[in-house]
Amino acid sequence: MSPHLSKEFLVQLGDQYGTPLYVYHAEKIKEQFEKLKAAFSGGDTRFFYACKALTNINVLKYINSIGCNVDCSSGNEVLLALRAGFPANRILYTSNNIAFSELEAVASHGVNINIDSLSNLRKFGLKFGSSYPVGIRLRPNIMAGGNLKIATGHESSKFGIPIEQLEDILDLIRETGITIRGLHIHTGSEIKDVSVFLQGVEILFGLADHFPELEFLDLGGGFKVPYKPGETGTDIDLLGKKLAEAVTSFERRMNRKIQVWFEPGKFLVSECGFFITQVNVLKPTRTINFAGLNTGLNHLIRPMFYDAWHTIENISNPSGPIKKYNVVGNICETDTFASDRELNEIREGDYLVFRNAGAYCFEMSSNYNARLKPAEILIKDGRPRLIRKADVFEDLLRNQVILDEGV
Ligand code: LLP
Repeated sequence: MSPHLSKEFLVQLGDQYGTPLYVYHAEKIKEQFEKLKAAFSGGDTRFFYACKALTNINVLKYINSIGCNVDCSSGNEVLLALRAGFPANRILYTSNNIAFSELEAVASHGVNINIDSLSNLRKFGLKFGSSYPVGIRLRPNIMAGGNLKIATGHESSKFGIPIEQLEDILDLIRETGITIRGLHIHTGSEIKDVSVFLQGVEILFGLADHFPELEFLDLGGGFKVPYKPGETGTDIDLLGKKLAEAVTSFERRMNRKIQVWFEPGKFLVSECGFFITQVNVLKPTRTINFAGLNTGLNHLIRPMFYDAWHTIENISNPSGPIKKYNVVGNICETDTFASDRELNEIREGDYLVFRNAGAYCFEMSSNYNARLKPAEILIKDGRPRLIRKADVFEDLLRNQVILDEGV
């Protein structure tokens, strides 16, 4: 049975730890990982959790403990992954427009590296020659992803080396002797259509001949998860089946073996997360019923930034009559979480819980309006554990230098 946190339990957590509060359910992460393994069991597949979605060190440790690898987008994420106990060979670093010094620092740990520009590929090749084989991130010129901000593979995207620059890559290999062991693409986030992934892998198959040392094709992340009731995500079972067929026929044709890598972020952690908030103020107006929360876009930016839908439930009054609300925050600019949303009747003080609050929620939070970041809780084996304390006032001043002489 799918792991589940009851409404009563979430209310208890709100009472015990205070709100706003991020809650993550470890067993749900495991369930998602098991789904991935089962769906792609027809081939030689490796999964690297895109930890940019949620980097709490305890979540990283848990992900390590269930045998999933990790994908990092910055030198600091690599350091966090090492601190969480991942060995270097289970860490992948997929860079984007970073200083060469960061690549050098990351390479000193011996992790797997994908390089996304000709400029850095050249510097890396000149420094390491064939001694440090790498993957290269390519731009496949495919438009995909839930919205333009999270579409990364299209023709005007800054990400990766455009595939039409293949000759330049080959020149660099000849010039520096660098070994290319992987080809990477990440076309976007929230890609529902399995044919996008298949189209991507076919593009990589078409290039494989130029890279005799190739060990893996990395298709990035981007699996869609359901956010709205009744919505479906990427059909990973279908994708797994189709991909296995495509890879088998490629392997036969080329007479070589190839691994497929994925870097799922949302798929692993989106649904494990719950954001518990409390209603400060009810403001009925002529046209709209506002429910004003004790949080805002500073804690959960996805609705305002991506027009993202998060399912919201009134866990304090689950059988109250249904009414329509605009659920809004307490920040000094428009921060609407949901408009015209049907919810069980809200009273001031009620807890509203946001679902899908695991991926890119706490991780993208800020101290805007000098508000404090919330605490994070991890539930494992039914037991809640505090994994981040809420900010206190002093945190706001922690890195500020208070000039003695005044300003
Ligand atoms: N690999 C690479 C190279 C990526 O850039 C990303 C996400 C992933 C993997 C993981 O993608 P996922 O499986 O989570 O879709 N903040 C946005 C999403 C930004 C994704 C950035 N890159 C949001 O909240 O929707």
